Amino acid sequence: MSELSVNHLLGIKYITRKDIDLIFETADQFKEVINRPIKKVPSLRDITIANLFFENSTRTRLSFELAEKRLSADVVNFSAAASSVKKGETLIDTVNNILSMKVDMVVMRHPNPGAGVFLSRNIRASIVNAGDGAHEHPTQALLDSFSIRERLGDIEGKKVVIVGDILHSRVALSNIYALKLLGAEVKVCGPKTLIPKYIESLGVAVELDLRKALNWCDVANMLRVQNERMDISYFPSTREYVQQYGLDRELLESLDKEIVVMHPGPINRGVEITSDVADSGQAIILNQVENGVAIRMAVIYLLASKIK
Ligand code: CP
Repeated sequence: MSELSVNHLLGIKYITRKDIDLIFETADQFKEVINRPIKKVPSLRDITIANLFFENSTRTRLSFELAEKRLSADVVNFSAAASSVKKGETLIDTVNNILSMKVDMVVMRHPNPGAGVFLSRNIRASIVNAGDGAHEHPTQALLDSFSIRERLGDIEGKKVVIVGDILHSRVALSNIYALKLLGAEVKVCGPKTLIPKYIESLGVAVELDLRKALNWCDVANMLRVQNERMDISYFPSTREYVQQYGLDRELLESLDKEIVVMHPGPINRGVEITSDVADSGQAIILNQVENGVAIRMAVIYLLASKIK
């Protein structure tokens, strides 16, 4: 039987093309399961998973919890805001206390880049990174590529542009790693101040003109400006950002071809995309959310099968 090359999912950087293919094949099967009248399988009846969220989340937290419950795992949820972290307890102490309650796997979102890697070196449980600061968000990238594959077929040779706040985006970095592994051509587009200087070393081209980028691509992944990670201004005003990097119906309909529009959520309607674009037939935003459950079931199932 095929298995993942890793014991943790800490980032797309640490996995292989073969791992992604295996996750997608497994997610195809789980997508069938979650569309049946009985959406649950007994696969992980003996596994306990802790979801540790040290940062806000709607989609990722609910999607992981649903995925775990669909696999019949026992689930405990932890939110830092309502925990003893507020009394000064460290990450390692928090996690070790939870693990002493016989938890097998930890799904963690944390504001610090590398928090998952740190944890994996210090505790004996399988770790899934559910987003670590501006570093990686591997399950988001997997569900994004899975959704492109579902809409357009094989990703090899497809042209994908990631638009917006690349500098602060874990979604951008994980998507770049995943799309490159799968053979896509990738460009990034946004204000120069929001594009990291090292980006071209990842095999990615930079296009500052949104219309040119959209006319080039098959898929546009529109990212949110992450004001919460900014301590200075990176562009003159939201109005100017919208004028240069916002996608509205007029721009979408004036392009040379029909493109697919993606967004990881949460959306700032009227900033990176207008409502008529977000709710249009060209947007696959809710398909991404639906696929998130199947992808997370696949990741958890494959990692759990490696727990001795
Ligand atoms: N896409 C995403 O990570 O959304 P949440 O922050 O709501 O989990």
